[in-house]
Formats: sequence, C-alpha cells, structure tokens
Amino acid sequence: CKDVGILAMDMYFPPTCVQQEALEVHDGASKGKYTIGLGQDCMAFCSEVEDVISMSLTVVKSLLEKYHIDPKLIGRLEVGSETVIDKSKSIKTWLMQIFEESGNTDIEGVDSSNACYGGTAALLNCVNWVESRCWDGRYGLVVCTDSAVYAEGPARPTGGAAAIAMLIGPNAPISFESKYRASHMAHVYDFYKPDLASEYPVVDGKLSQTCYLMALDSCYRQYCAKYEKLVGEQFSISDADYCVFHSPYNKLVQKSFARLYFNDFMRNCSSVDNDAKEKLQPFANLTSEESYQSRDLEKGSQQLAKHLYDIKVQPSTLLPKQIGNMYTASLYAALASVIYNKHASLSGQRIVMFSYGSGLTSTMFSFKLNEGQHPFSLTNIASVLDVTAKLESRHVTSPEKFIDTLKLMEHRYGAKDFETSKDISLLPPGTFYLTKVDSMYRRFYEKK
Ligand code: ACO
Repeated sequence: CKDVGILAMDMYFPPTCVQQEALEVHDGASKGKYTIGLGQDCMAFCSEVEDVISMSLTVVKSLLEKYHIDPKLIGRLEVGSETVIDKSKSIKTWLMQIFEESGNTDIEGVDSSNACYGGTAALLNCVNWVESRCWDGRYGLVVCTDSAVYAEGPARPTGGAAAIAMLIGPNAPISFESKYRASHMAHVYDFYKPDLASEYPVVDGKLSQTCYLMALDSCYRQYCAKYEKLVGEQFSISDADYCVFHSPYNKLVQKSFARLYFNDFMRNCSSVDNDAKEKLQPFANLTSEESYQSRDLEKGSQQLAKHLYDIKVQPSTLLPKQIGNMYTASLYAALASVIYNKHASLSGQRIVMFSYGSGLTSTMFSFKLNEGQHPFSLTNIASVLDVTAKLESRHVTSPEKFIDTLKLMEHRYGAKDFETSKDISLLPPGTFYLTKVDSMYRRFYEKK
C-alpha cells in the first residue's frame, strides 16, 4: 500500500507546570541559565493523580473520539515508554480496557523501551506491520508516554511529561520516505536507570550531549549516502524543509542543527554559503573527537546556521520548550509543533526527523507531507492538537509545590496500599486519573 504514515495525532500533557525562570531563582542558579542556557521556558509535571498510564488512557480515548475511529478498527497497538511502573505488565495491557469494551481483543503489539527511543521503535513497528504481508487492513496505533523526573541537581530543570497518540495507516498526510532510514546504535553509559527502587535516572549530561551529536553525525552521513545512491544527487539541509530533533532541552537542538550545517560544510554542499565556508575553514582539519570538544566551532556554527535554524527548526520547538523533555514523546511533540504552526504550507514538503535514546539507539528518517483528506488532513490534525488553548489553560505552580510533589512521588514509587487525594480540580473533563493502589499493587483509574 501507498504513503504509509501518520493519519492522525493527539496529545495530552498535565495541566500543572512550573516556570523555568522561577525555578532558576528557587535553585539559586544564575539568571538565564535554564531559560537561555538550556533554552527552556516551562516544565510540565504529573501531580500525584496522574502517571504514564492515566496520560496514555486519556490520549487514546481522546484520539478515537476526536477522529471518530471505531475501536474495532485498531489491529496493532504499540507503546513507547521508559517510565517503569511494572517490570512485566505492559502499559499496552492497561490501554486494552478501551478496546475490550467494544469487543476488540485482537490487537498485536506490546511496549518498546530504550530511553527516549521507544516511541520511534513503536512507530517503525507499526509502519512495518502496515507494509507487511501480515497486515489485515486495520489501523496501527502508536502511543508515546513518559514522565521525566530527575534527582535534585543540574538535570532537574530538564524534566517534563506528556503522552502522544498517532494513528498509522496508508494514504497518510504525513507519510514515511521508507528508503532513507539510517540508524546508529552503540553501547554507552550516558543515561540509564539501574536503581529499580528509584524513578530517577543516573545521567552524565556532558557525555550524553557528545553521544547525541556523534549519533546525529553517523545517522546523517548514512541518510545522505542512502539518498544520494537512490536519487543520484547530493543531499543537504536545503533538501529538508524542517529538521525535527529529539529535545532533552532546546540548547541541544540548537547545537544539533549547527552540527548538520558543519557536516554540510565538510561535504562541500551548496547549502553553506561562501562567507560561512571561510569562517568554518579553520575547523576543517579537526579530528572528529576534537570537533565535539571545540567551543569555538560549536558557537561559530550556531551563529552561521542561525538564519536557517529560524526557518527550519524554530517552528518545531514550541511544545518541547513549553513542556520540557517528554522522553519518548519529545520528538513527536516537536513534530506536532510543526504541524500546528505550519499546516497550511506543508503540502509537498519534507520533514527530517532525528530520534535519540540514551544507551544508545538513534534513527534518522523523513516524512513527505500532503494535505490529506478529512478527518485525516493536516488542517484537522492541527485543529485537534489545539496547542495554544491547551498551553494557555495550564496552571502555573510554584517551584516549592513542584518539589513537594516530587518528594511525595519518591515515597509513592513502587509503593502499595494507598489512596490518592483524588483532587481533580485542575484536570480537563475526559482526563483519566489514579485513585488508589491496593495491597496487591493493583492500580485503579477513573475518568473525570
Ligand atoms: N545565562 C545564559 N546561559 C547560561 C547561564 C546564564 N546565566 N549559565 C549557564 N549558561 C549556559 C552554559 O553556558 C551552557 O550552555 P552551552 O552548552 O551552550 O555553553 C548551558 O547554559 C548549560 O550550562 P552548564 O553549566 O553546562 O549546565 P549543567 O552542567 O549545570 O547542566 C545539563 C546541563 C548537562 C544539560 C544537565 O541539565 C543535564 O544533565 N540534563 C539531563 C540531560 C539528559 O537528559 N540527557 C539525556 C539525553 S537523551 C534523553 O532525553 C534521555
């Protein structure tokens, strides 16, 4: 079948958030460190009545309703998440409640996890299924759901939380260019969760940043090589209308785009003008190891690529800057930002995506866009996403309240036999929430 890809999207994020500017003051960080230094505006977090299961129940129910999809028409459901609530029972099985109600239990797929990459693994599984001989004509559904929380320290402002659902099938307005996928996978300890009693990761932020950029280089080189072999022309960032990156924090996205620009310079592409070529020449003979450590190259290439960043990257940064790192959902929240901001002019355009999950796994791939047909049209997706209204109706809490919630959740993590406050005053109607965990660790949810 033709044009397999994303037919529909919906997104949910908690209505509770903390402003990065207030967090800087609270943490005693220098002014501008989180807002300019990390490039973040605001951070969403789950209150004690929400978690990755409730968020994914909410977003799946909402997508099916808003696009009028009969639950019987889903043949595969894949979840990407790195937030561990149960070491055996998949989040997918909780979501089955929605489908059991309509008598549909014939749904393949379970959860995929490797840091922030699980959502991409889930997406590729669904696309492969639709393109395979096993496909039975029904839709695939991908859910990315995570709550990113960090121990006290420099990584804490890079948290966030959200769930995204994507309906997969043929004749999609956001369709895969399947031939140009390129991956880079390796073994490193940059971010991992070895302490099963804690929700917090062990993270080496500086190493993670270098691993991310090395993976980006490797994927981009291979993506370009595959494109060039098939099309017979050089690929450069001029051939991408938008570049969408996994966003642990916005500064890394700025560095990533500058890195692609530097790659284009090294490959002598016409996307780099003569003035920039002259300015980058002093860096041409660095070893790749030296190039990751050079502050002058980092800052210089960011400045030289800035005019292109504003056009090709900035439209994708809206949700990641406002919500923070949503782990598996981050890349797709960035994609949702482009669709929301630019839906009227996307037909015929190409979006290049870079997915990164620490540890590490990474893939670069691309979408071709067309307006599509209602309800699976870019216009309708943008209207369902309703980003501005959702962001504006959020409740800004104080850093103290945010820290109190994290402390409470440290006790609740892995605990049994408790009831939540059931305070749902801030949740929009239709939102699922946690009511209690019984003495057998069974979790109970209700819908507002
Ligand atoms: N005004 C403006 N900029 C400032 C200020 C200020 N007052 N203070 C610092 N900065 C800049 C720094 O120059 C730096 O920017 P640069 O890299 O462009 O030079 C930036 O702010 C960060 O400052 P650092 O001192 O480097 O920050 P720190 O070491 O305290 O922590 C880090 C930053 C490493 C990103 C940390 O937040 C972290 O570890 N986060 C987690 C990262 C992560 O999740 N990695 C996994 C990625 S993959 C995944 O998503 C799982």
